[in-house]
Amino acid sequence: MCGITAKISIEEHGVRRDLLRSLKRLEYRGYDSVGFATNNGVFSKSTSPMSEFISEVDEDVKSFVSISHTRWATHGGVTHVNAHPHFDSTKTVFVVHNGIIENYDEIREELERKGYDFVTETDSEVIPFFFYDEMIKNKKSFGEAAKEFIKRARGTFAIILTIKNDDKLYALKRDSPLALGILDDGFMLASDIFAFSDETNKAIFFEDDTYAEIKKNAYSFYDSNGDVQSTEITVFDWGVEEEDVQDYPHFMIKEIHEQPKTSKRLINSLETEQKKELSKIKDLIGEAKRVVFVASGTSYHASLIGVHLLNRRGVESHAVIASEFESFYLVDDKTLIIAVSQSGETMDVVTVIKKAKEEGAKIVSVVNVPYSTIQRHSDVSLEIRAGQEVCVASTKTFTNQLITLFFIAKLFSYKEDLSLIPDKIKKTLEDNEDKVKVYAKKLYKKKDVFVLGKGATYPIAREIALKLKEIPYVHAEGMMAGELKHGTIALVEKDTPIICLIPKNNPSMLSSAKEVEARGAEVIVISNDKSNKEVDFLVPESDDAQFSIYSTMIGHLLSYYIGVLRGVSIDKPRNLAKSVTVH
Ligand code: AGP
Ligand code: GLU
Repeated sequence: MCGITAKISIEEHGVRRDLLRSLKRLEYRGYDSVGFATNNGVFSKSTSPMSEFISEVDEDVKSFVSISHTRWATHGGVTHVNAHPHFDSTKTVFVVHNGIIENYDEIREELERKGYDFVTETDSEVIPFFFYDEMIKNKKSFGEAAKEFIKRARGTFAIILTIKNDDKLYALKRDSPLALGILDDGFMLASDIFAFSDETNKAIFFEDDTYAEIKKNAYSFYDSNGDVQSTEITVFDWGVEEEDVQDYPHFMIKEIHEQPKTSKRLINSLETEQKKELSKIKDLIGEAKRVVFVASGTSYHASLIGVHLLNRRGVESHAVIASEFESFYLVDDKTLIIAVSQSGETMDVVTVIKKAKEEGAKIVSVVNVPYSTIQRHSDVSLEIRAGQEVCVASTKTFTNQLITLFFIAKLFSYKEDLSLIPDKIKKTLEDNEDKVKVYAKKLYKKKDVFVLGKGATYPIAREIALKLKEIPYVHAEGMMAGELKHGTIALVEKDTPIICLIPKNNPSMLSSAKEVEARGAEVIVISNDKSNKEVDFLVPESDDAQFSIYSTMIGHLLSYYIGVLRGVSIDKPRNLAKSVTVH
């Protein structure tokens, strides 16, 4: 969460034109507040939307060194004072920070005892005071201060500092992502390469517990002992263009409509350029005693389908929510972790793979963003090739995660044809979108919705419920249909909407639908069975696993159109961020 960017250049650069333009590309990482500072001591911050803030910055604000931040608050409310950059009381050291300084209380108390006055509620504010005390008051070098900070601070950080009238950029990092982009006219530091991928395809990724000093025409990296670190320049290929919403009112609906194209692109790549990775994964699964999928949110729902597919083919597999992995004890050198993550940056997942590696486990990842932390920590990585997803809610990337998992299952005798998926996705949209709009009108005032599934559709029930919460803010529960009668059915009243996912030949789902209907519920059936007379949304024929794609699409569309009727912020829902880089 949160995006940081910084620029140092040979000629003066415009803060608005050069720095904030790149920050805008990271807005999906968090949008609670925004701010910048230059080494001339000019700074500004705000809780207004980023576009508004940027448009108000004077074109004349120029500098050789500048830093910026878009926040996803972890410590301290969403207020002007808590917005980054933070600075010491003399406004000499300016800092942007992504992450959490876990022992900030202790560091703050110590600095307060030295007489420093804190003004914010954030953990990050200890950073400018710490570096002011070390570098300005005690005249230590940045290297000495950085080594001390790395020793003292617990938690996660990507930190960039600029010091008034000093012509360098300073950076340090642990766990939170940070990369240095090599530009023609200088350098850019950023949370991810998308910030500068329209300007350069060369980057250096920071390792944990390292720090760097960047001059206008040179950079040096150091490890936590202060020894010079050799660095490798990665030449990357990723998303030059900033995504455009085109004729659509929101990115979410644009991204839903992109799926025939994005699914086709993925299928082609898995059949050609990514074939080698697939065969490596086959070997790794063959050598492993168990497969453990690790993911969060929507990516966890995809992982549950992965388990369903692999278990049926005799491969022992589990799916564990990344933030709960501590309670999963079956990790050893015969374990294969499959990390599923759109962003490739989710901190809960990153933490798991680092720990599992220490236990000797092998790591496979399924990511959308190439060169992401998770990809770089994997033994083998598959890319889902969905392109940049701007809306915070995952739609096209969920579909491509599922397709990738089908391809993995195909290595173990999953026989269904996958080539028809793009056309069936198209048909699902053509046949159902207008109807979804009608249902959205019926449902948008409802307070609670239940979604029922079984087997391969249970994860889909959870996915649809998650989207109903995330986008239109409707309280929704996705559950195993069979569990309903063990308690939750007590909540079913007249007209309670219950979405039932009923793929062909699923008599027990049909009974569940009848059971809730008998209690007055408003049952909405999504099915791929033409002969089902009670179907509300008919999706193309397929096996149960692929039904998961088409039925999810109905749920995603419904969430979107209910959200539109409720007038909410579709692409940037409240309190969320696209890339969750804190615990
Ligand atoms: C999806 O709509 C959500 N925004 C969220 O649950 C997301 O899937 C989760 O945070 C995991 O992200 P990742 O796939 O980037 O790891
Ligand atoms: N912990 C810091 C804050 O709350 C940074 C959060 C972030 O990484 O977005 O301001």
